[in-house]
Amino acid sequence: MKAIRYHQIGDPTVLRWEDAETPAPGAGEVLIAVRAAGVNFADTERRRGLYDAAAPLPRILGSEAAGVVHSVGPGVDAAWVGRRVVAFTPACYAEFTKASLDVVFPLPDNVSFEMAASIPVQGLTAYHLVNTAGRVAKGQWVLVHSAAGGVGLLATQMVKALGGKVIGTVSTDAKAAQARDAGADAVLRYDQVEGEVPRITEGHGVDLVLDAVGADTWRASLKSLAPFGHLILYGSASGEVPKLDVDAELMPRSLKVSAYWLRSPHPAELQQRAMSSLLEDVAAGRLRITIGLQLPLTEAVEAHRRLESRATVGKVVLTV
Ligand SMILES: NC(=O)c1ccc[n+]([C@@H]2O[C@H](COP(=O)([O-])OP(=O)(O)OC[C@H]3O[C@@H](n4cnc5c(N)ncnc54)[C@H](OP(=O)(O)O)[C@@H]3O)[C@@H](O)[C@H]2O)c1
Repeated sequence: MKAIRYHQIGDPTVLRWEDAETPAPGAGEVLIAVRAAGVNFADTERRRGLYDAAAPLPRILGSEAAGVVHSVGPGVDAAWVGRRVVAFTPACYAEFTKASLDVVFPLPDNVSFEMAASIPVQGLTAYHLVNTAGRVAKGQWVLVHSAAGGVGLLATQMVKALGGKVIGTVSTDAKAAQARDAGADAVLRYDQVEGEVPRITEGHGVDLVLDAVGADTWRASLKSLAPFGHLILYGSASGEVPKLDVDAELMPRSLKVSAYWLRSPHPAELQQRAMSSLLEDVAAGRLRITIGLQLPLTEAVEAHRRLESRATVGKVVLTV
């Protein structure tokens, strides 16, 4: 098969379209002919050696793909062959990828491969930030950083569906329009957060902050919180957050800081429920997937370039 691989850490140009061995599905696995693969910010961090740096090279990036089951491994019902599916599995920037059946989900007819490939990483992350880690309740204020990004647009819609109120942050006017379109009640530039959040929330502050920007935002995130408020750190697009001083930063207003990572252990039943709920909501039109950039898999270099230069909104998808 052909795949996008990289042999060394570096800028987007290390990604190469080349021959790679077609994976063989093992026991309990299926081989999927990939039609669309999702691109995530973490893929650019892996390629730059900032994340998962110990993984052996050459490596095929990608953690999610949608396509058609091509063949099955030992012990898997042959009825899977030909089914349209989405999978949350590694090595998806390729013509074929294999996946264990516990991370393979049949696709509703009206969910396209491109939409489906947008769901596992950003959808599950947004779902767990809002429902599992954040437990958003009606009437709460939530500050969603990078609100026009893949996770941000989904999290915004989910908070609104639960009756919460969203303040989003973005870097450009075009992104502000996207965040508003997803339901954000107010949209700010990052440097407006400290000044504007008290005004917008009438002195209350926000009950929850979803922050994957990190170094540039954590201080304003903490300052924006209402007493007993909760900051969830789930990424560091602008750099790492320094060690927090509990006495100085958290005690005075009884604040809570936590972390969320999709690759931490999740109960299998919770993950199945989350994925089913996401697919149902997308199929029913209750959750809108915004594909901001769709390119052929052969153009992965350009996809990475645009994602890490902050030039994308919503999801970036590579098609085969
Ligand atoms: N913890 C987890 O399990 C998990 C899972 C998925 C994603 N994440 C994290 O969540 C974040 C969003 O992921 P995503 O895939 O949905 O990406 P994304 O939000 O579509 O893209 C990243 C966005 O971050 C914003 N940003 C702020 N400062 C930045 C900087 N210095 N460099 C680059 N971008 C910057 C940009 O939006 P503006 O231009 O509007 O600032 C950019 O568009 C990433 O940090 C990612 O690593 C974490």
